[in-house]
Parts: sequence; C-alpha cells; structure tokens
Amino acid sequence: MHRVFEKTNVALTSLLLVAIVGTANAGGPVDEKLIIDGELEMITRTAAPEGHPLDEVISGWHYRTPETRALEADSFQNPGMLGVELGEEYWNKVEGTEGKSCASCHNDAASSMVGVGASYPKWHAPTSRPINVELQINQCRVNNMGAEEYAFDKSGQKPLTAYIKHQSYGKPVKLDLEEGDMKAWWEKGKELYYKRTGQLNLSCASCHEKNNGKYIRADHLSQGNVNGFPTYRLKQAGLISTHNRFRGCIRDTRAEFPKAFSDELMALELYVTWRGTGLSVETPGVRQ
Ligand code: HEC
Ligand code: HEC
Repeated sequence: MHRVFEKTNVALTSLLLVAIVGTANAGGPVDEKLIIDGELEMITRTAAPEGHPLDEVISGWHYRTPETRALEADSFQNPGMLGVELGEEYWNKVEGTEGKSCASCHNDAASSMVGVGASYPKWHAPTSRPINVELQINQCRVNNMGAEEYAFDKSGQKPLTAYIKHQSYGKPVKLDLEEGDMKAWWEKGKELYYKRTGQLNLSCASCHEKNNGKYIRADHLSQGNVNGFPTYRLKQAGLISTHNRFRGCIRDTRAEFPKAFSDELMALELYVTWRGTGLSVETPGVRQ
C-alpha cells in the first residue's frame, strides 16, 4: 500500500517537472513598461532588497499575455476597477450600532488612506501580531463601528480592501520590519516559503523562485508577487484575495491548506510582500 502511494507521488512529481522543464526556454518576462492610461508609470522591475535571493524583483504583469497586460494598462478597461468602485460604496455605507461609515472618521480615502496599501502587513501592537488590510478593516468595524467582522472573502472584504490598496496605486511597496516582532514573523514566513509540502513535495520557491519565466502546463510562472492584490482573475471573473491565491497554490501541491488569516498565511503574506519590495502597488492587477 505504502509503495503504491509512493509510486503515485513519483509519477505526479515527474509529470509536473516534465511540464515545467519541457518548455523550459519558452521565454521569460517581457521587456515592456506598464504605463496606466499613458500617464502613470508603474515600477514593475526593480533591484531586489538586501537579503533577497534574486537580483531583480519583477511584477507578475510581465508574465502575462499581451491582451491581459493591455487590460491592466487601461483603467477604463480593467475589470477590477468595478470592484474598486464597489469598495467606495462600502466605504460610505453606514453600518453597526454607532451609526458610522468608514468615511465618518476617515473622510476622503484619497488622502487618509494614501500609502496604507504599500505598507501592510504592519505590526499591530494591541494584538501583538502583524495585521493586513483585511484584518484592519475588521478591527475598525468591530471596535469603531459596532459592526460585525467580515468573514473571509465575504461581503465588502475584497472590494473595500481593493479600494484601500488602490489609494496607493503606483506607490512602491515598503514594509517596516523594525516594529514589534516583525522580524520573527518574516523568518517564519521565509521558512514556510521554502518548505516543501504536499504529495508533490514542492515549495513556493520550487515554482516562483527556481522556475519563474518557465511554463507549467499553459501557465507562465511569475515570481509570485502580491503587489497587484486583490487582483482580477479573468478565469474566475472576479477579484481574488491574497490568501485565496496562497491557498490555491498550496492546494495545487496537493497539501492541506491553512485557514485564511492563520499565523501561517499571515507570516507568508508578510514575507511574500517583502519579496516584492520596491514594486508599485498595482491593485487591481489583472491576471489570467
Ligand atoms: C469611529 C471612527 C472610525 C471608524 C468609523 C473607522 N475607523 Fe478606521 N481607524 C480609526 C482609528 C482611531 C484608527 C487608528 C487606530 C486603530 O488602528 O484603531 C483607524 C485606523 C484605520 C486604518 C489603518 C490606517 C493606517 O495608517 O495604518 C485603516 C486602513 C482603517 N482604519 C480603515 C477603516 C475602514 C475601512 C473603516 C470602515 C469599515 C473604518 N476604518 C472605520 C477610526 C475609525
Ligand atoms: C506548482 C507550482 C506552484 C507552487 C508550488 C506555488 N505556486 Fe503560486 N502560482 C503558480 C502558478 C502557475 C501561478 C499563476 C501564474 C503566475 O503568476 O505565476 C501562481 C501565482 C501565484 C501568485 C499570483 C502572482 C500575481 O502576479 O498575481 C502568488 C502571489 C503566488 N502564486 C504565491 C505562491 C505562494 C506563496 C506559494 C507557496 C505557498 C506558491 N505560490 C506556490 C504555481 C505555483
């Protein structure tokens, strides 16, 4: 029984590796610029921060087809912008026992939320953990509005997150690792990034560090950066959250996948966001 199981693993792994290696030289990231509406030039390639295993950090935009790239470059055509507009409605919506909306306290997001999307996850002293934008929204809903938390990926969570991150459109990602225990969480995230899991025995690095630029089946592997999240996925015809994407990638290795906002996925979000240091926030990015 055990033998059969192992054989299956080997067969699956080699199938996947053949899929990756078979088209090994089919092309890397395209050499083009992302300029939104011909006006806002995004930083989509930049020198990696100290301690990064690669020399250059590259946005996932460079690995997509010309059609997908064009959709993101035109804010009128970018289908993710509808999600951002919906997020603005949630921003102004009064909810909870205090009779307040986000706007009641934070007024115009275009000024109060600038830079938030480029600097999260951040250390959150009250809970002694890193916090991401989704969890900060929940904190404000519960503590400042007397409203219920959004459940993962439900109700206003994705649109409002996209709306807040979009206020940092073009701003380079930069995390503050000096606060609290951010460094320990970074280490934990790094460990998870390199940990091989699942029946296929693959880590994030197996695909996104060692094989980026190659094809895995029909998919062009990027570095797996999160600067475009929530991103609009054409395949799913909707906004996809960071933790949903992580869970999908882990599920593809045939491993058990951790819960959204668990310590594991928060550590991974922190570390993966850091790997994209210097890239512009592209929210809402457009991907296949
Ligand atoms: C009653 C006032 C109040 C309301 C209503 C409120 N917030 Fe806040 N918010 C705060 C305060 C105070 C802080 C700073 C301290 C903290 O983290 O609680 C804050 C912090 C934040 C931050 C972090 C900003 C940064 O610079 O890191 C975000 C993001 C945020 N709020 C989003 C929201 C959203 C989205 C809503 C609506 C769902 C909302 N807030 C509703 C008072 C409010
Ligand atoms: C079996 C290969 C494989 C593994 C292992 C894998 N991914 Fe992915 N991942 C993909 C593919 C394929 C895509 C879609 C194409 C792309 O953007 O690379 C993707 C996309 C992503 C994206 C979206 C990038 C963008 O620009 O929108 C992120 C983020 C990501 N992966 C993170 C991770 C993390 C974190 C891990 C480890 C927990 C991981 N992936 C493990 C194959 C993998």
